Amino acid sequence: QQNLKNIPPGPKPWPIVGNFGGFLIPSFMRGRYGHQSESTADMNAMDVFAQQAKVYGNVYSIFAGSQLIVVLNGYEVVKDALSNHPEVFSDRPDIPAVTIMTKRKGIVFAPYGPVWRKQRKFCHTTLRNFGLGKLSLEPCIQQGLATIKTELLRLNEECGAAGVDLTPLISNAVSNVICSLILGQRFHHEDREFRTMLDLMVRGLEICVNSPAVLINIFPLLYYLPFGVFKELRQVERDITIFLKRIITKHRETLDPENPRDLADMYLMEMLAQQAAVDEDNSFTEDYLFYIIGDLFIAGTDTTTNSVLWVLLYMALHTDVQDKVQAEIDKIVGRQRVPSLTDRGRLPFTEATIMEVQRLTVVVPLGIPHMASETTEFRGYTIPKGTVILPNLWSVHRDSTLWEDADTFNPARFLDHEGKLLRKECFIPFGIGRRVCMGEQLAKMELFLTVTSLLQAFIFRLPEGKPSPPLRGRFGLTLAPCPYTVCVSARS
Ligand code: HEM
Repeated sequence: QQNLKNIPPGPKPWPIVGNFGGFLIPSFMRGRYGHQSESTADMNAMDVFAQQAKVYGNVYSIFAGSQLIVVLNGYEVVKDALSNHPEVFSDRPDIPAVTIMTKRKGIVFAPYGPVWRKQRKFCHTTLRNFGLGKLSLEPCIQQGLATIKTELLRLNEECGAAGVDLTPLISNAVSNVICSLILGQRFHHEDREFRTMLDLMVRGLEICVNSPAVLINIFPLLYYLPFGVFKELRQVERDITIFLKRIITKHRETLDPENPRDLADMYLMEMLAQQAAVDEDNSFTEDYLFYIIGDLFIAGTDTTTNSVLWVLLYMALHTDVQDKVQAEIDKIVGRQRVPSLTDRGRLPFTEATIMEVQRLTVVVPLGIPHMASETTEFRGYTIPKGTVILPNLWSVHRDSTLWEDADTFNPARFLDHEGKLLRKECFIPFGIGRRVCMGEQLAKMELFLTVTSLLQAFIFRLPEGKPSPPLRGRFGLTLAPCPYTVCVSARS
């Protein structure tokens, strides 16, 4: 029983469904009846939140069914909760539709506590050692980029004036990086097994957040319905389980402790070490590894892929900025060698451009839901234990008290008067606090190398005569650009 006295103000909820009756249900109906998801309706979620903050203030409440949700808006409030009160606001809620897929294991949706801490620390360190040390990621990323470059020119010729959809190429290169880190193997983007696994994971989560299956959050028994998306969800879950279990078994059978190949090997070794030490609260199990692999794939592919796609779209729309980025790359890197991580810091305008696109597009606009682990007083309100907390990162990046002309694309805002890169505290596309994105460094490396390599080699233009894609994006798992194509020409 939640004590709802003195909770933050908010719009009046509908009976049974709460405030989500208004836009969640029509959202899947729209998909079902074939309306374009790039219609204004999809981004209305962010508009609705912005509107509500204007009416009720930067801390306000809404309901999903009977679940109280507090939305935090603006940098001061988000920072106050997640950085200044981490012990209270770092937990994750039990969202029935998500729990079905994750069982609250892994990292992303694991409850805040010692198990999450151990698992996160282990994965973080291992990714860092594999990615930045022993098995440097740079050649791995560059290998993927070399494939993109060859394919791009071929596709560009094939598609002609209609332009190329970059999504499959970028998504494949990004997934390959995660794949190399976790599973030590790379797949061709047309590899059937690999594509099937990725599609299944994305489909599973899409069903959970953007289909009638969202109603499982209010009526959990719907999960067992023998038809429609409910049945599909159970099938997807079974297929992912078979796929990942097969990969883990293969790793166990071929494990060579002297020569670990990837995160999965390191994890199995840690598991054996802890079993040998008869550690009582040992959470390192094959079962847990299964959920960690799923987490890293989901958290690490869609986010980075969409960030790269957003940058390239902005470059095609703002050709003057594209020219400036290319001039900077030409001056510092030249055209003979591929850009490397050592060039970071020497390409401030390029970095500022990537950051400005990330500021405006915020691929995880509402972060990942947090939960209050105890009843607390926050900025004059009572937040009951179990309240879901939504940090509205979108609002932080559009806060007009922090950003001049917040809606305008202007990379120079991240540069000082000498053209040096400015780090801004209120730039938080990866979140903030104890649950801050675990893949931030990896994502930044991938973004930098991908954007610089592609802009060094190609000019990106929107196809002539086609309307520009809307910039509101498509709100699914992450905020993706609406489908677009570009005409690509090699820079001489
Ligand atoms: C969490 C953004 C790439 C792994 C998050 C969160 C955000 C975010 C906003 C939620 C923070 C919170 O709960 O307060 C992004 C963006 C990316 C990106 C914008 C790309 C541009 C990656 C990559 C990986 C990754 C490449 C994988 C290695 C994770 C994990 C979490 C997370 C494991 C959960 C952390 C936890 O609950 O402790 N990310 N992410 N992310 N991200 Fe990322």
